[in-house]
Amino acid sequence: MTAACTALIEHPRLRELWPEYLVLQHQIIRATVPLTEAALERARELPEADPLREPLASYLDEHVDEELHHDDGLLDDLDSLGVSRADALGRFPSSKVATLVGAQYYWIHHHHPVAFLGYVALMEGYPPTPELLETLAARTGYPMEAFRTFAQHAELDPGHRDHLDRTLDALPLSDRDESAIVASAATTAALAAKALLEIL
Ligand SMILES: [Fe+2]
Ligand SMILES: [Fe+2]
Repeated sequence: MTAACTALIEHPRLRELWPEYLVLQHQIIRATVPLTEAALERARELPEADPLREPLASYLDEHVDEELHHDDGLLDDLDSLGVSRADALGRFPSSKVATLVGAQYYWIHHHHPVAFLGYVALMEGYPPTPELLETLAARTGYPMEAFRTFAQHAELDPGHRDHLDRTLDALPLSDRDESAIVASAATTAALAAKALLEIL
């Protein structure tokens, strides 16, 4: 995933690729709140004897608020680059995107919602830095207002990542829970890289 991101940033046609990348990002993050809500609903339905039930539901409930409307922000950024909402929403999301998000629905509904924390770890764990934002603006030639969602995540996601880390440390996770979280994170990283390479 790191290699794919570096290949994007260093690509000689980054200016042309950037809107494509934002469309991809939108296709993925439009599912964040619905996925978190699905995981929250399942967490609340866990048997009372499951020690994760209450603390997992409480984390997921807060995570919904952390991510509300971030997908709309990306559509605004795309609009400022000349890609209308209708254009962005009309694009067919690739099978990589459907698999990336779809795997989470499967594990949430048919295994255990704790697996979703691996997805969150990937999505929140590598926020853009202010230096990266400057590099992107310089390399694409786009104005800083085209990077509002990125700037917002450079500011917010270090806190979201720490919130998740504190939650992971506090949850009474079994070895099986940890394996599910790791498998979920690894699957997310692999598919996110493939989705990005598809654009490149
Ligand atoms: Fe976000
Ligand atoms: Fe976040």
